[in-house]
Amino acid sequence: MVCLKQVSLLSIALACVVKAEDYIPYDKSKLTTSAIFEQFDYQDLDHSPWKPSTAKKFDEGRHEVVSYVGKWAIEPAKKYPAFSNDKGLVLKSKAAHHAISYKLPQPFDNTDNDLVLQYEIKLQNGLSCGGTYIKLLDLQDNYDNFSTDTPYQVMFGPDRCGSENKIHFILRRENPLNVSDVQEKKLKNSPMSRSGDLTTLYTLILKQNQDFEIRINGEVAKAGNLLRSPHLLEPRLNPPKEIIDENDTKPLDWEDSPRIPDPNVQKPEGYDEKHGLPTIPDPEAVKPENWDESVPVLIEDPDSTAPEYWDEEEDGKWLAKEIPNPKCKELAGCGPWSPPRIPNKEYTGPWIQPMIDNPNYVGEWKPRMIANPHYYEDDKPSNLNKLVGGLGFELWSMSDEILFDNIYLGHSIAEAERIGNLTFKVKYLLEDQHKRANKPKIQNEPVAPPKNFDELLLDKNGNTFKQFYLFLQLFALRQFLDIKDFFYDFLRDPVYQITHRPIKFVLYCVVFVFVFTVICGIGSVLLFMISNGGGGSHTYEILDEPRSNGPKIELLADDEDVNTIETAKSTGVNRSATEAIKK
Ligand SMILES: *[C@@H]1O[C@H](CO)[C@@H](O)[C@H](O)[C@H]1NC(C)=O
Ligand SMILES: *[C@@H]1O[C@H](CO)[C@@H](O)[C@H](O)[C@H]1NC(C)=O
Ligand SMILES: *[C@@H]1O[C@H](CO)[C@@H](O)[C@H](O)[C@H]1NC(C)=O
Ligand SMILES: *[C@@H]1O[C@H](CO)[C@@H](O)[C@H](O)[C@H]1NC(C)=O
Repeated sequence: MVCLKQVSLLSIALACVVKAEDYIPYDKSKLTTSAIFEQFDYQDLDHSPWKPSTAKKFDEGRHEVVSYVGKWAIEPAKKYPAFSNDKGLVLKSKAAHHAISYKLPQPFDNTDNDLVLQYEIKLQNGLSCGGTYIKLLDLQDNYDNFSTDTPYQVMFGPDRCGSENKIHFILRRENPLNVSDVQEKKLKNSPMSRSGDLTTLYTLILKQNQDFEIRINGEVAKAGNLLRSPHLLEPRLNPPKEIIDENDTKPLDWEDSPRIPDPNVQKPEGYDEKHGLPTIPDPEAVKPENWDESVPVLIEDPDSTAPEYWDEEEDGKWLAKEIPNPKCKELAGCGPWSPPRIPNKEYTGPWIQPMIDNPNYVGEWKPRMIANPHYYEDDKPSNLNKLVGGLGFELWSMSDEILFDNIYLGHSIAEAERIGNLTFKVKYLLEDQHKRANKPKIQNEPVAPPKNFDELLLDKNGNTFKQFYLFLQLFALRQFLDIKDFFYDFLRDPVYQITHRPIKFVLYCVVFVFVFTVICGIGSVLLFMISNGGGGSHTYEILDEPRSNGPKIELLADDEDVNTIETAKSTGVNRSATEAIKK
């Protein structure tokens, strides 16, 4: 009875576990009429309306450049699956172009309505470089040749490569003045997408008042108004009303300097001589008496004569080398005398013309603005230019196993939120649990830093011997480092080290000599043994000599013992004494 009860309890518990993981598709009958919701509850890709592209792009030489060879599948999640049979659209190939599309059962018209586009991405193998964005395709008969050239109205979703990481939001807008002029208006400063291998929910909202929002997992990551902030998009949603007149030039008499040199102030006469020179000739200096200005400083070297080959007619007059005039040495000086220069006390630097406000200043010149002949006003970008006929993923990716799911396209923010609450949130929590339960083991557990000396001494758990050993180790290490420091200091400046640390120097010398001797001793003994080891029997004889003495002595001692015992036995007296000796 008890046993039965347990079994039934167990089965109930098991049933509960299975039930929690059972996948219940969202009830699409609750959807608003114009909304589209794709949860990939198909048997497989072949039994679904999703069609991989067969497009091939050719360059002018008809050489294939891009073909969409990447494989797709509709299958359940492999990584941290939340439900047992919840399928999604999975990008299956690495480093390949992928394109797949779905023709909507009825065209989607957003005129005078809010646009809400929402879908889930699960990077089951991460994403190093690749796109995961979705496109709302212009209405066409079919999308068999879906490619990068297929016109679309909205592109939304993550794109990542290395450190580049953004969530695209692109509107393709027609120029109202020329409908064949279509421009891709891209959101600037777009938010970053999420990494991680759990499902992420991306939502784009574009309201009728041109407010837009990008949400990640239900939280707003970027918001703004396309009309009020014209610089949000690149190129701008609307061209500027006025442009610079390229033909406008600055008039020659345009005064654009706010300050000019004061024309009424002139440089005082003699300013440069009086105030402009840092040094002046000393006015008090007098020429020494025996300074002869008539004696030249340099004279022609009497020993210098024209070389033999010198031809005065061709080479001109020979100029002898000049040397200092020896006569000058007998005088205080020779040649023209000038007084020595002294610092000029009146020196105030070069003269600077004072500046005044320009009375004719009219301000900075700017070219005239004229009406932009190409101006237009695209005042309702939420009214998509064309009907949307399909959904498409046209991606290049380095990583595979990217799973897309629960695509919502509609007009109701509340509906998208409700679907998010019922599908994404539940899934995410289960995945999170799953991931926590399967947490990979940390490969390199953090290692505690080694204890320092004080900690070791204070450590009550360590035994005393261990502490003493560590102390010795640390002591030896410190001494070794000291010696090393001293050695390098000594190499740098030996005289200073010897005169300033004589005791240390002597001590280290002694230690060095001692260690050196010991090492040399050991080395020579080893060398001796090695060199003689293979030499022959001669050594053995020498080594044998003392060895044979050892046992002899022992034998003697044994004999003595035996003798004593035997003596004791034979005499029969004092047994206990003999025992004591034996011991
Ligand atoms: C797709 O492209 C191929 C080659 O460019 C072309 O032959 C074919 O007609 C196209 N199919 C459709 C449906 O446009
Ligand atoms: C309209 O735009 C297209 C594409 O930019 C351009 O080739 C064409 O010349 C434009 N037409 C006029 C009338 O400006
Ligand atoms: C500048 O002048 C030239 C010649 O008059 C004219 O063709 C051109 O449109 C003018 N540019 C602007 C921006 O007004
Ligand atoms: C979705 O869930 C959040 C948080 O539980 C709640 O605040 C919000 O009202 C829900 N939205 C809808 C439409 O149910």
